[in-house]
Amino acid sequence: MHRSEQYEPERSRSAGGLADNFRSTRALTEALVVPLSDADATLQSMEDASPAKWHLAHTTWFWETFLLREHLHGYRLHDDRWPFLFNSYYEAEGARIARAARGVLSRPKLEEVLEWRAVVDDAMTPLLDDPALASLVALGVAHEQQHIELLLTDIKHALFCNPLGPAMWEGRAPARTAPAAMDWHAHPGGIALIGHDSTGFAFDNEGPRHRVLLEPFALADRLVTNGEWEAFIADGGYRNPRLWLADGWAWVQREGIGAPLYWREGEHFTPQGWKARDPNAPVAHISYYEADAYATWAGARLPTEFEWEAIAASHDPAAGNQLDGAAPPLPHGGTDLFGDCWQFTRSAYLPYPGFRVAEGAVGEYNGKFMSGQVVLRGASCATVRGHSRPSYRNFFYPNQRWQFTGLRLAKDA
Ligand SMILES: [Fe+2]
Repeated sequence: MHRSEQYEPERSRSAGGLADNFRSTRALTEALVVPLSDADATLQSMEDASPAKWHLAHTTWFWETFLLREHLHGYRLHDDRWPFLFNSYYEAEGARIARAARGVLSRPKLEEVLEWRAVVDDAMTPLLDDPALASLVALGVAHEQQHIELLLTDIKHALFCNPLGPAMWEGRAPARTAPAAMDWHAHPGGIALIGHDSTGFAFDNEGPRHRVLLEPFALADRLVTNGEWEAFIADGGYRNPRLWLADGWAWVQREGIGAPLYWREGEHFTPQGWKARDPNAPVAHISYYEADAYATWAGARLPTEFEWEAIAASHDPAAGNQLDGAAPPLPHGGTDLFGDCWQFTRSAYLPYPGFRVAEGAVGEYNGKFMSGQVVLRGASCATVRGHSRPSYRNFFYPNQRWQFTGLRLAKDA
Protein backbone atom coordinates (compact mmCIF):
# COMPACT_ATOMS: atom_id res chain seq x y z
CA MET A 1 0.00 0.00 0.00
CA HIS A 2 1.04 3.60 -0.42
CA ARG A 3 1.00 5.25 2.95
CA SER A 4 2.53 8.55 1.98
CA GLU A 5 0.86 11.52 0.38
CA GLN A 6 1.15 12.09 -3.33
CA TYR A 7 4.25 14.07 -4.15
CA GLU A 8 3.49 17.59 -5.35
CA PRO A 9 6.44 18.86 -7.38
CA GLU A 10 5.70 22.53 -6.64
CA ARG A 11 6.13 22.00 -2.93
CA SER A 12 9.73 20.97 -3.11
CA ARG A 13 10.88 23.63 -5.49
CA SER A 14 13.11 26.24 -3.94
CA ALA A 15 11.33 29.51 -3.21
CA GLY A 16 14.36 31.54 -4.33
CA GLY A 17 15.88 31.62 -7.78
CA LEU A 18 19.21 30.32 -8.96
CA ALA A 19 21.14 33.30 -7.56
CA ASP A 20 19.68 32.67 -4.10
CA ASN A 21 20.55 28.97 -4.41
CA PHE A 22 24.10 29.89 -5.34
CA ARG A 23 24.52 32.17 -2.34
CA SER A 24 22.88 29.90 0.21
CA THR A 25 24.87 26.87 -1.00
CA ARG A 26 28.18 28.75 -0.88
CA ALA A 27 27.33 30.08 2.59
CA LEU A 28 26.40 26.60 3.86
CA THR A 29 29.75 25.13 2.74
CA GLU A 30 31.53 27.79 4.78
CA ALA A 31 29.24 27.50 7.80
CA LEU A 32 30.07 23.79 7.99
CA VAL A 33 33.80 24.40 8.45
CA VAL A 34 33.41 26.95 11.27
CA PRO A 35 34.12 24.26 13.93
CA LEU A 36 37.33 23.19 12.15
CA SER A 37 40.88 24.43 12.67
CA ASP A 38 43.23 24.77 9.70
CA ALA A 39 44.82 21.48 10.84
CA ASP A 40 41.43 19.70 10.96
CA ALA A 41 40.57 21.08 7.53
CA THR A 42 43.86 19.87 6.03
CA LEU A 43 43.50 16.21 7.12
CA GLN A 44 43.15 13.47 4.52
CA SER A 45 42.45 10.22 6.38
CA MET A 46 42.27 7.93 3.34
CA GLU A 47 42.49 8.15 -0.42
CA ASP A 48 38.69 8.06 -0.85
CA ALA A 49 38.31 11.12 1.38
CA SER A 50 39.50 14.67 0.77
CA PRO A 51 40.42 17.43 3.21
CA ALA A 52 37.65 19.89 4.08
CA LYS A 53 39.90 22.69 2.82
CA TRP A 54 40.25 20.88 -0.50
CA HIS A 55 36.44 20.71 -0.85
CA LEU A 56 36.22 24.45 -0.13
CA ALA A 57 38.83 25.09 -2.81
CA HIS A 58 37.77 22.52 -5.41
CA THR A 59 34.18 23.82 -5.53
CA THR A 60 35.62 27.30 -6.00
CA TRP A 61 37.91 26.02 -8.76
CA PHE A 62 34.79 24.63 -10.48
CA TRP A 63 33.14 28.10 -10.55
CA GLU A 64 36.36 29.80 -11.58
CA THR A 65 37.11 27.28 -14.37
CA PHE A 66 33.74 26.57 -15.94
CA LEU A 67 31.98 29.90 -15.33
CA LEU A 68 34.36 32.81 -14.70
CA ARG A 69 37.26 31.82 -16.95
CA GLU A 70 34.95 30.86 -19.79
CA HIS A 71 32.19 33.45 -19.50
CA LEU A 72 33.34 36.57 -17.61
CA HIS A 73 35.24 38.84 -19.94
CA GLY A 74 38.60 39.92 -18.52
CA TYR A 75 38.51 37.58 -15.51
CA ARG A 76 41.99 36.61 -14.30
CA LEU A 77 42.58 33.46 -12.25
CA HIS A 78 43.02 34.26 -8.56
CA ASP A 79 46.24 32.20 -8.55
CA ASP A 80 47.27 30.39 -11.71
CA ARG A 81 49.12 27.68 -9.70
CA TRP A 82 45.99 26.55 -7.91
CA PRO A 83 44.14 24.69 -10.71
CA PHE A 84 46.86 22.01 -10.40
CA LEU A 85 45.93 21.61 -6.73
CA PHE A 86 42.16 21.71 -6.99
CA ASN A 87 41.18 20.05 -10.26
CA SER A 88 39.67 16.72 -9.20
CA TYR A 89 39.53 14.42 -12.20
CA TYR A 90 38.91 16.54 -15.31
CA GLU A 91 41.39 15.29 -17.93
CA ALA A 92 40.31 18.13 -20.21
CA GLU A 93 41.58 20.59 -17.57
CA GLY A 94 45.06 19.15 -17.53
CA ALA A 95 47.50 17.78 -14.96
CA ARG A 96 46.68 17.77 -11.27
CA ILE A 97 48.04 16.63 -7.95
CA ALA A 98 47.46 12.93 -7.15
CA ARG A 99 44.23 12.33 -5.30
CA ALA A 100 46.04 10.61 -2.41
CA ALA A 101 48.28 13.68 -1.97
CA ARG A 102 45.54 16.19 -1.21
CA GLY A 103 46.46 16.00 2.48
CA VAL A 104 49.89 17.55 1.90
CA LEU A 105 48.35 20.90 0.98
CA SER A 106 49.13 22.83 4.16
CA ARG A 107 49.32 25.83 1.82
CA PRO A 108 47.30 27.67 0.73
CA LYS A 109 46.06 28.22 4.27
CA LEU A 110 42.41 27.81 5.16
CA GLU A 111 42.18 31.57 5.48
CA GLU A 112 43.51 32.06 1.94
CA VAL A 113 41.04 29.55 0.53
CA LEU A 114 38.19 31.39 2.26
CA GLU A 115 39.43 34.68 0.77
CA TRP A 116 39.46 33.07 -2.70
CA ARG A 117 35.89 31.94 -2.13
CA ALA A 118 34.84 35.52 -1.40
CA VAL A 119 36.58 36.81 -4.56
CA VAL A 120 34.89 34.18 -6.71
CA ASP A 121 31.48 34.79 -5.12
CA ASP A 122 31.72 38.50 -5.93
CA ALA A 123 32.92 37.85 -9.47
CA MET A 124 30.04 35.44 -10.08
CA THR A 125 27.39 38.10 -9.42
CA PRO A 126 26.91 39.28 -13.04
CA LEU A 127 26.71 35.69 -14.32
CA LEU A 128 24.00 34.51 -11.94
CA ASP A 129 21.12 36.14 -13.80
CA ASP A 130 22.29 35.29 -17.31
CA PRO A 131 19.70 32.87 -18.77
CA ALA A 132 22.30 31.46 -21.17
CA LEU A 133 24.35 30.26 -18.18
CA ALA A 134 21.47 29.01 -16.03
CA SER A 135 22.04 25.32 -16.66
CA LEU A 136 25.78 25.63 -15.93
CA VAL A 137 25.07 27.59 -12.73
CA ALA A 138 22.53 24.93 -11.70
CA LEU A 139 25.21 22.28 -12.31
CA GLY A 140 27.68 24.27 -10.19
CA VAL A 141 25.17 24.52 -7.33
CA ALA A 142 24.40 20.79 -7.52
CA HIS A 143 28.14 20.07 -7.66
CA GLU A 144 28.82 22.16 -4.56
CA GLN A 145 25.93 20.44 -2.74
CA GLN A 146 27.51 17.08 -3.54
CA HIS A 147 30.77 18.32 -2.06
CA ILE A 148 28.96 19.53 1.06
CA GLU A 149 27.92 15.92 1.66
CA LEU A 150 31.44 14.65 0.94
CA LEU A 151 32.94 17.30 3.21
CA LEU A 152 30.74 16.07 6.08
CA THR A 153 31.44 12.38 5.51
CA ASP A 154 35.17 12.93 4.90
CA ILE A 155 35.72 14.98 8.06
CA LYS A 156 33.71 12.43 10.04
CA HIS A 157 36.17 9.76 8.89
CA ALA A 158 39.18 11.97 9.64
CA LEU A 159 38.00 12.74 13.19
CA PHE A 160 37.14 9.06 13.75
CA CYS A 161 40.75 8.17 12.92
CA ASN A 162 41.97 10.31 15.82
CA PRO A 163 42.14 8.12 18.98
CA LEU A 164 40.73 11.07 20.96
CA GLY A 165 37.52 10.79 18.92
CA PRO A 166 36.98 14.55 18.71
CA ALA A 167 33.47 15.91 18.24
CA MET A 168 32.84 18.35 15.42
CA TRP A 169 29.76 19.59 17.23
CA GLU A 170 28.84 19.14 20.89
CA GLY A 171 25.47 17.74 21.92
CA ARG A 172 23.57 14.51 21.85
CA ALA A 173 21.06 12.97 19.49
CA PRO A 174 17.56 12.62 20.91
CA ALA A 175 16.53 9.02 21.65
CA ARG A 176 13.99 7.59 19.24
CA THR A 177 10.97 5.50 19.97
CA ALA A 178 10.95 1.99 18.55
CA PRO A 179 9.84 1.88 14.91
CA ALA A 180 6.69 0.01 14.01
CA ALA A 181 6.95 -3.43 12.44
CA MET A 182 8.16 -3.16 8.86
CA ASP A 183 5.34 -2.45 6.43
CA TRP A 184 5.58 -2.62 2.65
CA HIS A 185 4.82 -0.45 -0.39
CA ALA A 186 3.35 -2.96 -2.82
CA HIS A 187 3.71 -2.45 -6.58
CA PRO A 188 1.69 -4.45 -9.11
CA GLY A 189 4.46 -4.50 -11.71
CA GLY A 190 4.10 -3.47 -15.35
CA ILE A 191 5.84 -0.92 -17.53
CA ALA A 192 7.40 1.92 -15.52
CA LEU A 193 8.80 5.15 -16.92
CA ILE A 194 12.29 5.56 -15.43
CA GLY A 195 14.58 8.57 -15.58
CA HIS A 196 14.25 12.33 -15.35
CA ASP A 197 11.39 13.92 -17.29
CA SER A 198 13.54 16.95 -18.29
CA THR A 199 11.60 19.50 -16.20
CA GLY A 200 14.17 21.38 -14.12
CA PHE A 201 17.75 20.41 -13.38
CA ALA A 202 19.03 16.84 -13.38
CA PHE A 203 22.43 15.24 -13.92
CA ASP A 204 23.05 13.68 -17.32
CA ASN A 205 23.14 10.16 -15.81
CA GLU A 206 19.41 10.42 -14.89
CA GLY A 207 18.28 10.25 -18.49
CA PRO A 208 17.05 9.57 -21.05
CA ARG A 209 13.67 8.65 -19.64
CA HIS A 210 12.79 5.16 -20.80
CA ARG A 211 10.53 2.18 -20.18
CA VAL A 212 11.38 -0.65 -17.83
CA LEU A 213 9.32 -3.76 -17.21
CA LEU A 214 8.78 -4.53 -13.52
CA GLU A 215 7.49 -7.75 -11.99
CA PRO A 216 5.22 -7.37 -8.93
CA PHE A 217 7.32 -6.47 -5.86
CA ALA A 218 7.20 -4.74 -2.51
CA LEU A 219 9.56 -2.17 -0.97
CA ALA A 220 9.91 -1.76 2.80
CA ASP A 221 8.41 1.40 4.31
CA ARG A 222 11.45 2.08 6.50
CA LEU A 223 15.18 1.42 6.74
CA VAL A 224 16.79 -1.45 8.67
CA THR A 225 17.73 -0.30 12.20
CA ASN A 226 20.84 -0.63 14.38
CA GLY A 227 18.91 -3.01 16.64
CA GLU A 228 18.01 -5.26 13.71
CA TRP A 229 21.64 -5.19 12.57
CA GLU A 230 22.76 -6.23 16.06
CA ALA A 231 20.50 -9.29 15.73
CA PHE A 232 22.20 -10.11 12.40
CA ILE A 233 25.60 -9.94 14.12
CA ALA A 234 24.41 -11.98 17.11
CA ASP A 235 23.16 -14.65 14.70
CA GLY A 236 26.65 -14.97 13.22
CA GLY A 237 25.86 -12.92 10.11
CA TYR A 238 29.48 -11.93 9.52
CA ARG A 239 30.71 -15.51 10.01
CA ASN A 240 28.37 -17.37 7.67
CA PRO A 241 29.72 -17.49 4.09
CA ARG A 242 26.38 -18.74 2.78
CA LEU A 243 24.89 -15.29 3.31
CA TRP A 244 27.54 -13.47 1.30
CA LEU A 245 28.38 -12.76 -2.30
CA ALA A 246 31.80 -14.26 -3.09
CA ASP A 247 33.43 -10.83 -3.44
CA GLY A 248 31.77 -9.75 -0.19
CA TRP A 249 32.94 -12.81 1.72
CA ALA A 250 36.50 -12.27 0.43
CA TRP A 251 36.26 -8.63 1.62
CA VAL A 252 35.01 -9.65 5.08
CA GLN A 253 37.88 -12.13 5.44
CA ARG A 254 40.56 -9.86 4.04
CA GLU A 255 39.56 -6.76 6.01
CA GLY A 256 38.45 -8.52 9.19
CA ILE A 257 35.00 -6.93 9.00
CA GLY A 258 32.54 -7.76 11.81
CA ALA A 259 30.27 -4.69 12.09
CA PRO A 260 29.36 -1.48 10.25
CA LEU A 261 32.02 1.21 10.00
CA TYR A 262 32.22 3.42 13.14
CA TRP A 263 30.87 0.74 15.54
CA ARG A 264 32.69 -0.26 18.74
CA GLU A 265 30.81 -2.35 21.28
CA GLY A 266 27.61 -0.45 22.14
CA GLU A 267 28.82 2.84 20.69
CA HIS A 268 29.30 4.41 17.33
CA PHE A 269 31.26 7.42 16.13
CA THR A 270 29.16 10.43 15.16
CA PRO A 271 29.83 14.10 14.33
CA GLN A 272 29.25 14.59 18.08
CA GLY A 273 32.00 12.09 18.97
CA TRP A 274 31.54 8.58 20.36
CA LYS A 275 27.92 8.02 21.46
CA ALA A 276 25.79 5.12 22.66
CA ARG A 277 24.10 3.56 19.65
CA ASP A 278 20.35 4.01 19.41
CA PRO A 279 18.87 0.61 18.44
CA ASN A 280 15.89 2.38 16.87
CA ALA A 281 17.88 4.60 14.51
CA PRO A 282 18.63 3.35 10.99
CA VAL A 283 21.90 1.47 10.52
CA ALA A 284 24.42 3.54 8.55
CA HIS A 285 27.90 3.12 7.08
CA ILE A 286 27.42 -0.33 5.61
CA SER A 287 28.84 -1.58 2.31
CA TYR A 288 26.89 -3.05 -0.57
CA TYR A 289 28.25 -6.45 0.42
CA GLU A 290 26.90 -6.08 3.96
CA ALA A 291 23.54 -4.80 2.74
CA ASP A 292 23.19 -7.78 0.42
CA ALA A 293 24.21 -10.28 3.14
CA TYR A 294 21.73 -8.80 5.61
CA ALA A 295 18.92 -8.91 3.04
CA THR A 296 19.68 -12.59 2.37
CA TRP A 297 19.69 -13.30 6.11
CA ALA A 298 16.33 -11.50 6.45
CA GLY A 299 14.74 -13.56 3.64
CA ALA A 300 14.50 -10.49 1.41
CA ARG A 301 16.65 -8.79 -1.23
CA LEU A 302 17.85 -5.39 -2.34
CA PRO A 303 15.54 -3.46 -4.68
CA THR A 304 16.60 -2.64 -8.22
CA GLU A 305 17.03 1.06 -8.89
CA PHE A 306 13.97 0.88 -11.16
CA GLU A 307 11.76 -0.60 -8.45
CA TRP A 308 12.96 2.07 -6.05
CA GLU A 309 12.20 4.87 -8.53
CA ALA A 310 8.76 3.48 -9.37
CA ILE A 311 7.81 3.81 -5.70
CA ALA A 312 9.63 7.14 -5.27
CA ALA A 313 7.70 8.78 -8.11
CA SER A 314 4.83 9.42 -5.68
CA HIS A 315 7.00 10.61 -2.76
CA ASP A 316 8.33 14.06 -1.88
CA PRO A 317 12.12 14.09 -2.38
CA ALA A 318 12.42 17.14 -0.12
CA ALA A 319 10.81 15.39 2.87
CA GLY A 320 12.58 13.36 5.53
CA ASN A 321 15.80 13.84 7.47
CA GLN A 322 18.09 15.86 5.18
CA LEU A 323 20.56 18.69 5.73
CA ASP A 324 19.03 22.10 6.46
CA GLY A 325 22.02 23.93 7.90
CA ALA A 326 25.30 23.67 9.75
CA ALA A 327 24.25 20.99 12.23
CA PRO A 328 25.41 17.41 12.85
CA PRO A 329 23.99 14.94 10.32
CA LEU A 330 22.48 12.04 12.32
CA PRO A 331 20.17 9.35 10.93
CA HIS A 332 17.01 9.16 13.06
CA GLY A 333 14.47 7.00 11.25
CA GLY A 334 10.89 7.25 10.07
CA THR A 335 8.84 6.26 7.07
CA ASP A 336 10.02 8.88 4.58
CA LEU A 337 11.45 7.41 1.41
CA PHE A 338 14.14 10.11 1.22
CA GLY A 339 16.58 11.08 3.97
CA ASP A 340 18.59 9.46 6.79
CA CYS A 341 20.72 7.18 4.58
CA TRP A 342 21.37 6.53 0.90
CA GLN A 343 19.89 3.16 0.04
CA PHE A 344 21.70 0.43 -1.82
CA THR A 345 20.09 -1.06 -4.88
CA ARG A 346 21.26 -4.22 -6.61
CA SER A 347 21.60 -2.28 -9.88
CA ALA A 348 24.97 -1.77 -11.51
CA TYR A 349 25.67 1.87 -12.36
CA LEU A 350 25.26 1.81 -16.14
CA PRO A 351 24.13 4.24 -18.83
CA TYR A 352 20.43 4.29 -19.66
CA PRO A 353 19.44 3.45 -23.25
CA GLY A 354 20.32 6.41 -25.47
CA PHE A 355 22.71 8.04 -22.94
CA ARG A 356 25.28 10.33 -24.56
CA VAL A 357 28.21 11.99 -22.81
CA ALA A 358 27.87 15.79 -22.95
CA GLU A 359 30.31 17.93 -24.94
CA GLY A 360 33.19 19.59 -23.11
CA ALA A 361 34.77 19.11 -19.72
CA VAL A 362 31.45 18.73 -17.89
CA GLY A 363 30.97 15.58 -19.96
CA GLU A 364 33.48 14.05 -17.54
CA TYR A 365 31.00 14.50 -14.69
CA ASN A 366 29.25 11.11 -14.64
CA GLY A 367 29.61 8.91 -17.68
CA LYS A 368 33.21 7.89 -17.21
CA PHE A 369 32.44 6.38 -13.78
CA MET A 370 30.00 3.80 -15.15
CA SER A 371 32.15 0.78 -14.35
CA GLY A 372 32.10 -1.50 -11.33
CA GLN A 373 29.90 0.69 -9.11
CA VAL A 374 26.42 0.17 -7.68
CA VAL A 375 23.55 2.65 -7.61
CA LEU A 376 22.20 4.10 -4.37
CA ARG A 377 18.92 5.95 -4.26
CA GLY A 378 17.21 8.48 -1.98
CA ALA A 379 19.15 11.02 0.06
CA SER A 380 20.88 11.08 3.44
CA CYS A 381 20.97 13.25 6.56
CA ALA A 382 24.04 14.92 4.97
CA THR A 383 22.29 15.67 1.65
CA VAL A 384 21.28 19.31 1.22
CA ARG A 385 17.49 19.34 1.23
CA GLY A 386 16.25 19.97 -2.31
CA HIS A 387 19.30 18.33 -3.92
CA SER A 388 17.81 14.89 -4.60
CA ARG A 389 15.03 13.67 -6.87
CA PRO A 390 13.17 10.41 -7.53
CA SER A 391 15.44 9.89 -10.56
CA TYR A 392 18.68 10.77 -8.70
CA ARG A 393 21.44 8.16 -9.04
CA ASN A 394 24.22 8.10 -6.48
CA PHE A 395 26.97 5.51 -6.97
CA PHE A 396 29.80 3.95 -5.01
CA TYR A 397 32.03 0.89 -5.17
CA PRO A 398 30.59 -2.13 -3.36
CA ASN A 399 33.15 -2.05 -0.53
CA GLN A 400 32.84 1.67 0.29
CA ARG A 401 30.94 2.64 3.43
CA TRP A 402 32.08 6.00 4.73
CA GLN A 403 29.00 7.68 3.24
CA PHE A 404 25.70 7.59 5.14
CA THR A 405 24.70 4.32 3.45
CA GLY A 406 21.78 2.25 4.71
CA LEU A 407 19.38 -0.47 3.69
CA ARG A 408 15.75 -0.66 2.64
CA LEU A 409 14.62 -4.22 1.92
CA ALA A 410 12.60 -5.39 -1.05
CA LYS A 411 10.89 -8.66 -1.89
CA ASP A 412 9.14 -10.35 -4.79
CA ALA A 413 5.37 -10.22 -4.48
FE1 LIG B 1 33.83 17.81 -7.78
